Amino acid sequence: MTDPRCQSSPAALRNRALIAAILRPLLPPTGLVLELASGTGEHVVQFAQTMPGLIWQPSDPSPVARASIVARCEREGLANVRAPLDCDVTAATQPVEYADAIVCINMIHISPWAATLALMQLAGRILPRRGVLYLYGPYRRADRALEPGNAAFDADLRARNAAWGLRDLDAVVAVAAAQGLHCEDVIDMPANNVSVVLRRV
Ligand SMILES: C[S@@+](CC[C@H](N)C(=O)[O-])C[C@H]1O[C@@H](n2cnc3c(N)ncnc32)[C@H](O)[C@@H]1O
Repeated sequence: MTDPRCQSSPAALRNRALIAAILRPLLPPTGLVLELASGTGEHVVQFAQTMPGLIWQPSDPSPVARASIVARCEREGLANVRAPLDCDVTAATQPVEYADAIVCINMIHISPWAATLALMQLAGRILPRRGVLYLYGPYRRADRALEPGNAAFDADLRARNAAWGLRDLDAVVAVAAAQGLHCEDVIDMPANNVSVVLRRV
């Protein structure tokens, strides 16, 4: 029987293996990886199973999301996933003070710009030199028009919350740079998303 705590995201089910394939060569073989905005927990389960040498620390400010993460990790019997933390990147204090790498999927466009600024400040503070901050999601790109699907998605987000919406990738890279994070790679992904690899200098 399905655990009623388990939330599911069709997009997460579609992109989790693709994201894991990008992450695997980027991350160290061992260490602690903080996932921000973990959502349903479907990503962290995939990552923990395919990168078992790493300890995974999921987090989300939503109690519904954290319950889903707990249920999914219990069901899979994962020993390398810690209990999810209540972590809102904009909060005055954070429940984690060190991570070897940080993963943040599909948060930047579904939160106010202040969350992106806070994310970069957190990453700049807690990552070691050469530590990776990995972002995934849809962005506005300086060199191309917004694809029709992303334009419609952006309009829908802004209608739901005026502070949400697809961000200019150059602006995100600039606020990362201000916190000592260099943009190492931007990788096109299916459905007009990108993987953004930022590295602490
Ligand atoms: C669209 S969901 C993405 C969830 C998951 N990463 C995925 O791709 O399926 C956005 C997530 O961002 C989280 N979120 C929104 N604002 C946040 C903030 N200020 N700090 C941390 N997480 C936040 C929400 O609780 C939600 O789980």
